[in-house]
Amino acid sequence: MTAQAPALPGWALVTGATAGLGAAFARRLAAEGRDLVLVARTQARLESMAAELRDRYAVRVQVLVADLSTAEGCAVVAARVAEPEQPVDTLVNNAGIGLYRPFGKAPLADEQRLLDLNVGSVLTLSYAAVGAMKARGRGEIVNVSSVAGFVPRGASTTYAAGKAWVTSFSEGLALLLAGTGVRVTAICPGFTRTEFHARAKADMSGTPSWMWLDADRVVAEGLADARSGAVISVPSKRYKGLLLLVKVLPRSVVRWAVSR
Ligand SMILES: NC(=O)c1ccc[n+]([C@@H]2O[C@H](COP(=O)([O-])OP(=O)(O)OC[C@H]3O[C@@H](n4cnc5c(N)ncnc54)[C@H](OP(=O)(O)O)[C@@H]3O)[C@@H](O)[C@H]2O)c1
Repeated sequence: MTAQAPALPGWALVTGATAGLGAAFARRLAAEGRDLVLVARTQARLESMAAELRDRYAVRVQVLVADLSTAEGCAVVAARVAEPEQPVDTLVNNAGIGLYRPFGKAPLADEQRLLDLNVGSVLTLSYAAVGAMKARGRGEIVNVSSVAGFVPRGASTTYAAGKAWVTSFSEGLALLLAGTGVRVTAICPGFTRTEFHARAKADMSGTPSWMWLDADRVVAEGLADARSGAVISVPSKRYKGLLLLVKVLPRSVVRWAVSR
């Protein structure tokens, strides 16, 4: 078994913390005793999550209402990430949306909003985190990517390309920060039961049940991988197996399989 890194003392900031994987990250980090900053757009849900975590785990919880698909929203959260008095030692870039429409069918503004959130916010918040964490000599950045980043997609073209960026960016940062005390991990889940697909109005009725993962298990496995130094984490044996196939098959065969 790989040795786990010691727990970090500072705050953990989770984007998209009110639902799905983000809520699972927030609960797990609170259970570890970490003080938390929760970020999302909907104040009432943030307050209710914060109250739950304070009651159950006796940790400090701050909430930040921010739309991370906007420059203003990113700036507010980046300022908190870089704030030295109450240092953020764990940044979980989790907030993200999907768009289940062929490229060209949805308004360009929707494609742009997806990139601004799924890629732009990861860029801006990581930039703030790297400077502050490097200066302290400790920290972890956890970027929630997706197995979609490893396969081309016809119906979610921009989403898949954005996640490929998140995974590659995380690998590059991990290389850059090796030896500084700052770890970087991209967690790449497969289909996970959350609000994600309903929000994207995706019809998932044809997705076989074995392909669905549980958010708590994805987060538990992803964080354990991150703490043992993994740069890319693919939770669950079934998706590890699928990705192995994607890596060994010729790309033309992968495209053929995905198009079916
Ligand atoms: N579910 C899957 O099958 C799956 C698979 C692989 C990867 N992922 C990735 O996992 C991450 C989390 O997805 P999820 O499935 O947990 O989604 P989810 O259940 O829909 O939750 C999304 C969270 O993000 C927040 N959010 C949405 N838009 C935002 C914005 N513009 N600014 C700030 N916060 C925003 C939401 O709160 P508000 O609406 O209140 O802002 C909510 O807290 C995403 O990056 C997604 O791409 C998901």
